[in-house]
Amino acid sequence: MKRIAFAGAVLLSSLLSVNVMAAAEQTPEEKAAADIANRQAVFKLLSVANGALGGMARGAPFDAAAAKLGTERVIMLAGMIPQLFANDTTKTAGAAKTRASDTIWTGKADFDKLAADLEAGAKSALEILNTKGEAGVREAVAAIGPKCGACHDRFRLD
Ligand code: HEC
Repeated sequence: MKRIAFAGAVLLSSLLSVNVMAAAEQTPEEKAAADIANRQAVFKLLSVANGALGGMARGAPFDAAAAKLGTERVIMLAGMIPQLFANDTTKTAGAAKTRASDTIWTGKADFDKLAADLEAGAKSALEILNTKGEAGVREAVAAIGPKCGACHDRFRLD
């Protein structure tokens, strides 16, 4: 019984070290694929977070808590964008599908500024919702939506 437990421990520790080695030996292409998947996931979540408020602007019943929660999430996710593009995947994307323009990494300061604009826009949307409630829904949407488009126009491929 002891011997089985020992063999199990040895097997487990060798499996763990294989895992560690695999992480260390990630190729630039594998890292790019993972980073691309992560940034696309955050944009999908941005859509979900922003969707609640957008729906209310198009006539869904007003729900103050849901509108504010979604807007707080946009603020949080927007703050992650610069870091998510820290890895320049221009030469390493390989077969990974991405719509990110190569010019993100030749104009990273401008790109980061557009991410900061979205964060600031969502902060002002939250302020509008807090002060005006339902009457501020359209104004809040207008503080966020154009910030998405401004970056897509410049840095997202068709
Ligand atoms: C600072 C720039 C920037 C801002 C701001 C921005 N986006 Fe994007 N977005 C991109 C880029 C670049 C891509 C392409 C990413 C890729 O394919 O690697 C993208 C991709 C997407 C995608 C496609 C994700 C997928 O499934 O591949 C969606 C959806 C999206 N953005 C929604 C939004 C929404 C909603 C907002 C605003 C709340 C927003 N984005 C703000 C740059 C931005």
